Amino acid sequence: MSSKLKGKVIFFATNNINKFNEARRVLSRYKIAVGMLRVKTLEIQSESLEEIAKNSAIHAFQQCHLPIIVEDAGLFVEALKGFPGPYASYVYKTIGNEGLLKLMKEATNRRARFQSMVVYFSEELESPICFKGEVLGEITETVREGCSGFGFDPVFKPLKSEKTFAEMDIDEKNLYSHRAKAFHKFARWYKSLKI
Ligand code: IMP
Repeated sequence: MSSKLKGKVIFFATNNINKFNEARRVLSRYKIAVGMLRVKTLEIQSESLEEIAKNSAIHAFQQCHLPIIVEDAGLFVEALKGFPGPYASYVYKTIGNEGLLKLMKEATNRRARFQSMVVYFSEELESPICFKGEVLGEITETVREGCSGFGFDPVFKPLKSEKTFAEMDIDEKNLYSHRAKAFHKFARWYKSLKI
């Protein structure tokens, strides 16, 4: 591993400002500077978040040749046998939160988990490196909008909280979230690189 990695700005390839702000808040605690890069990332069809995110990271790196982070998230609902999983983005765009609640109308088991796969790639690495984060929670009975959040935040409540993600500010969400956990893992790895 080369020392060239240290002290550089890294770039988070995403079009989602909410994701970027959540990541930036975590990385700032480690004094890691991150920029938001709006490159068009390739998202392959796969049941593996790792495979999707690794491919996206390689594709993004080929476009910009900068130290790059890509993140892919999935929502796995027990009563729906893990659906929508890695297809969460398509499900959100099509049926949204109301549609998800309809699918779960009869479900007494409300347990679900979010997973985040953060992938880092730079010219010093032979292959992308992955960091996974997960949060267990429940799908609420109703849509509970708050002052912030995005996506499924208004219907996802972490097990150890009474609030949905949408009812939390970024710092509170980051105490629980799949994304924060993955970014903490990344940050600890990045900071441990030898100079
Ligand atoms: P993506 O493919 O990583 O962008 O995420 C898949 C889907 O899950 C998208 O519809 C996102 O809006 C949603 N999603 C990802 N992360 C979160 C989160 O932290 N809270 C709520 N929804 C999320």
